[in-house]
Amino acid sequence: MNIRVVARNAVRPSYLPVMTQKMRVRLIRGHNRERNSARAWAARHAEDMNAWGNAVDPVLWRESRDWAAAFAGSARSRLERLTAAGVNLGGGGGIELLYLMTRLIRPALALETGVAAGWSTAAILAAMRANDTGHLLSSDFPFFRLAAPERYIGYVVPDDLKQRWSLRIKGDRRNLEEFLLPDTRVDLVHYDSDKTRNGREFFLRRVRPHLTDRHVMVMDDIQDNLVFREYAERQPVFRVFEYEGKYIGATGAGLPALERRRHP
Ligand SMILES: C[S@@+](CC[C@H](N)C(=O)[O-])C[C@H]1O[C@@H](n2cnc3c(N)ncnc32)[C@H](O)[C@@H]1O
Repeated sequence: MNIRVVARNAVRPSYLPVMTQKMRVRLIRGHNRERNSARAWAARHAEDMNAWGNAVDPVLWRESRDWAAAFAGSARSRLERLTAAGVNLGGGGGIELLYLMTRLIRPALALETGVAAGWSTAAILAAMRANDTGHLLSSDFPFFRLAAPERYIGYVVPDDLKQRWSLRIKGDRRNLEEFLLPDTRVDLVHYDSDKTRNGREFFLRRVRPHLTDRHVMVMDDIQDNLVFREYAERQPVFRVFEYEGKYIGATGAGLPALERRRHP
């Protein structure tokens, strides 16, 4: 990490509160005792994403996987240019699941936190285009280890998908104030930003009044702490999928209806 770049980003007044919190969390990360039990719980409940997708809707699952494979090819070649210049934005995980969820739910409004290069953003927007309906609200905070990091947010999102997209980059707490107005209702949620207990709990509290009774929530990296477990065990149904050594959780009032489509 380039300390000078981090310091330059940190002193920008609009970024300072989020940066201070992130530094604090990084310093205490080694003491996170929840991790082992969260990972063990996720591993115990994990099921095969491919089998689940196929059982719920084999035609849409095939479409989701085909889209993800084609998109990954073009996104990787765009990112190669950045990687060669020493900029690593990270990859997307489980984008075929997000595409499938968006196709199944046909959300009027979706909300995601954590954009980075924009793999998940592209998945939701591409499925919305196939649905011919929907709008996506995305909350992010620039990667503070990069110089002028704003220019990379959503780097892999194709321009022709952006008309259904609203992006805010001031951190979840401020962004959600702008997105979640009293009458805002969200059908699909993807949480992939602040992975701390504090960040996840804040989000779940903040978003709850805005969830429709058919919503589905997808949360990444649920092995980091027990927040997803605590939340999901109070929901009618939850699912856990392993993805490249990490775990993705899905739950929400709308999940049972999706699963009723399930083939034996
Ligand atoms: C794992 S990446 C997201 C990957 C993305 N979903 C994809 O599929 O390409 C996490 C992102 O969340 C952002 N982030 C971290 N903490 C945040 C916060 N408090 N508010 C908003 N975004 C945050 C990071 O800067 C980064 O852009």
